[in-house]
Amino acid sequence: MDVPPLLSTGATVRPRHGANRLAIPPASEIGVVGAPRCSLWTDHQGRCNGIILRMTIEALREDLVLEAQLLGHPFTFNTTWGLFSPKAVDEGTRLLLEKLEIHEDDIALDLGCGYGPLGLAIAKAAPRGRVHMLDRDFVAIDYAQGNARRNGIDNAEIYLSNGFSAVPEDLALDLVVSNLPAKVGNEMFRLMFHDAHLRMKPGARIVVVTVNGLRDFVKKSFRQTFGNSNKVKQGRTHTVTSAIKE
Ligand SMILES: C[S@@+](CC[C@H](N)C(=O)[O-])C[C@H]1O[C@@H](n2cnc3c(N)ncnc32)[C@H](O)[C@@H]1O
Repeated sequence: MDVPPLLSTGATVRPRHGANRLAIPPASEIGVVGAPRCSLWTDHQGRCNGIILRMTIEALREDLVLEAQLLGHPFTFNTTWGLFSPKAVDEGTRLLLEKLEIHEDDIALDLGCGYGPLGLAIAKAAPRGRVHMLDRDFVAIDYAQGNARRNGIDNAEIYLSNGFSAVPEDLALDLVVSNLPAKVGNEMFRLMFHDAHLRMKPGARIVVVTVNGLRDFVKKSFRQTFGNSNKVKQGRTHTVTSAIKE
């Protein structure tokens, strides 16, 4: 079979329709290109673009690997496209971590753990404690479990749960944290806060980070559920809010 040669990245190709030449992006950007755009391309002799398409798709299947320093500890995280903030630890997550006070025996819960940066950083900082990390996305859970192993963390329980649906009712938490999922809707937020309150010890704290647009809603909801709300930090894009179970 006549297989067309591999087009190197950085080369230019002619789109099937139209006269302008398009640059093939460098390898570092190839994951961002996406197949539909590639399918407009042919090589300089007008041949099939299948090779570019295959290259792109195979690159997209590979894990992304991040190195990050969180709460003074180095971490390696594997992530994948489709998870929240797969290319770098989210700015909001970092802001929340900066503002957290953690005790080494805390029993904590990370609501919506994604691939695990928040919960695993807390687990490392609380070696005599335990962290429940939950997400409704099985891909996130799979990656968070892999990242716990990869970083030598054995004091985290990582499981699928829609809000608190799979969290034991008799769990007595010292700390609840979340980089809240922005789009679950007000009703789900109210359920999450109510169910967190139910499982928190008196004196326990809940600390969440949201995009600034949700700040007022969180403040109002915390006041309704916990009777108090404290704006810990307002950044350019995110706000960290906390409350205490009285
Ligand atoms: C803003 S991301 C934060 C991810 C991670 N904690 C981080 O800091 O990178 C919110 C996460 O909440 C999860 N999520 C959304 N709705 C949920 C629900 N009803 N129950 C549990 N997790 C949920 C999403 O799958 C997503 O991973």
